[in-house]
Amino acid sequence: MVQASRLVEYAELAATKSAPGWARRLAVETLTGWGLPGACEVAQLVVSELVTNSVNALEKAAQQIAPEVPVVRFRLSAGLGRGGPVVTVEAWDQIPFPPVRRSPGAGEESGRGLFLVEAVAENWGWYWPDRQVSRDMEWCPAEPGRITQNTAVFGKVTWAVVAGGDEDGRPVGHGTGTNSAGTRRQA
Ligand SMILES: Nc1ncnc2c1ncn2[C@@H]1O[C@H](COP(=O)(O)OP(=O)(O)OP(=O)(O)O)[C@@H](O)[C@H]1O
Ligand SMILES: [Mg+2]
Repeated sequence: MVQASRLVEYAELAATKSAPGWARRLAVETLTGWGLPGACEVAQLVVSELVTNSVNALEKAAQQIAPEVPVVRFRLSAGLGRGGPVVTVEAWDQIPFPPVRRSPGAGEESGRGLFLVEAVAENWGWYWPDRQVSRDMEWCPAEPGRITQNTAVFGKVTWAVVAGGDEDGRPVGHGTGTNSAGTRRQA
C-alpha cells in the first residue's frame, strides 16, 4: 500500500508512435511496484490518451512551429486523497495549444480521448507552465489551484487524477467526470 511519503516516477519519451506503449508499460510497472495495482487499468488509459495526444500534436505542428523539444515528458505521483490513494498523471509537451475536450457524435471516429479521460478520472485539466519544464518535471506542482499563466511560451501540462484502488489492490468506482481545465481541484 502507498506510503505516507510522496511516490514519484517520471520519464521523457521521444515523440514517436511507440511512446504511448512505453508510457503504459512504465505506468503498470510503477503502480504495481507502489502497491497500487488497482490503479493500473485507469492509469494506463489516461497515460495512453495524454501521451498520444502530445505525440499527435507535436507531429501535426512540426512543420508550423518546429518544436525544439519533440519529446513528451510525463510524471506519475501517488498520494493520499480524502477517499484513499490517488495517482496523478501529468504529461508535458511544447505545443502552444491547449487540449480541448470534444463531444463526439456517434458517427465520429476521433475526439473521444479526453471524453474518456473525463469519464474515468476523478478530475483533469491543463495549464501553461510559467517556466522551463525540466526532464523530471520537478517544479511542476501536483497541487490544486495552480495559477495558470495565459501564455504558451513553455508548452503545457495536461494532468488527470485517478483513484488508486482499494486496500486489496482492486479498482474502485470511477471518477466524477468533472472537467476543470486550467485549474486543479483537491483530490
Ligand atoms: N497535447 C495536446 N496539444 C494540443 N492539442 C491537443 C492536445 N491534446 C488534445 N488536443 C486537442 O484536443 C482535441 C481533443 O482531444 P481528444 O484526445 O479528445 O481527441 P482526439 O485526439 O482528436 O481523438 P482520439 O483521442 O479519439 O483519437 C484534439 O483533437 C486536439 O485538437
Ligand atoms: Mg486523443
